[in-house]
Amino acid sequence: MTPPESTVQRLVITRPDDWHLHLRDGAMLRDVLPDTASRFGRAIVMPNLAPPVVTTAQAQAYRERILAALPAGMRFEPLMTLYLTEDTAPAEIERARASGFVHGVKLYPANATTNSQAGVADLRRCGSVLEAMQRLGLPLLVHGEVTDPDVDVFDREAVFIERHLEPLVRDFPRLRIVLEHITTTVAAQFVHAASDNIAATITAHHLLLNRNALFAGGLRPHHYCLPVLKREMHRQALVAAAISGSPKFFLGTDSAPHPKHAKESGCGCAGIYTAHAAIELYAEAFDRAGALDRLEGFSSFHGPDFYRLPRNSDTIALERIAFQVPDIIEKGGDTLVPFRSGESIAWRIAR
Ligand code: DOR
Ligand code: ZN
Repeated sequence: MTPPESTVQRLVITRPDDWHLHLRDGAMLRDVLPDTASRFGRAIVMPNLAPPVVTTAQAQAYRERILAALPAGMRFEPLMTLYLTEDTAPAEIERARASGFVHGVKLYPANATTNSQAGVADLRRCGSVLEAMQRLGLPLLVHGEVTDPDVDVFDREAVFIERHLEPLVRDFPRLRIVLEHITTTVAAQFVHAASDNIAATITAHHLLLNRNALFAGGLRPHHYCLPVLKREMHRQALVAAAISGSPKFFLGTDSAPHPKHAKESGCGCAGIYTAHAAIELYAEAFDRAGALDRLEGFSSFHGPDFYRLPRNSDTIALERIAFQVPDIIEKGGDTLVPFRSGESIAWRIAR
């Protein structure tokens, strides 16, 4: 049964943070950053640039470019990450931890997604690094998909959990892990059942869409992301996890800008741009589930609590006034097709 939508017209919540974000670099960074910084206090910034951010020194330089791109008067704290490779040394983990600005290390299985070629082919080669992260309490952020071409693309997350995540958790029981952008019942159940060291982010698009959205009336490249959208039963499990009130689940948009031409291609890129309306989209998803009262915990409390950072102290206000998303937006000298392009979103930021 669909719960009745509430009659709440205005919602004030502690300022949220985005615990999984792609900001890119250069002109694209300059143009996408205000969308995030006008909504969120902080964001965990993904390191999958080309070339990737593999050292603390590179993370520091990237952080400085982000802060330099921030429009005057805006406040925003980028929380940096390192890109794990099979060559990452434990000493780099020590440097990252000591920096105070690196908050996680991202595991991309090699060739799983955008700019993951330098990722990890064999996690067993990363033992000493994982050991250092466990010892220092630096979280491992996981893109949880196998890349084995024999595994069906819709099963890649479930198989990753069985083949790689379960052994990892067994071998490093005190390692803090965020399973990023979960998409399946299996992932939600795994995180629920695991120790307090294990958490997960959930995107707005995985809360709002199932895999039919990839083929609605024709092929829809702007709904293609990784992990790919799943069946309706999985979407429902994600909504249940997000609204459960469990501190293990928190907001991570995975907003990932790609130019329109790179998505509308014979081999289109994975990634959905949601930063232009991120918290509004989550509000819509929670509202549809009759759980607006759970939005603040998911968006503003569970993330900082897991990352052992203070919660934000200011607030944002949302109002139930529909607004129309433009068909296209210009970013970084390119045209982008934002999520909900040409359609409306039920909530907006109160001005
Ligand atoms: O859809 C995605 N886009 N998934 C990822 O894992 C990477 C991201 C990107 O960087 O474009
Ligand atoms: Zn991502």
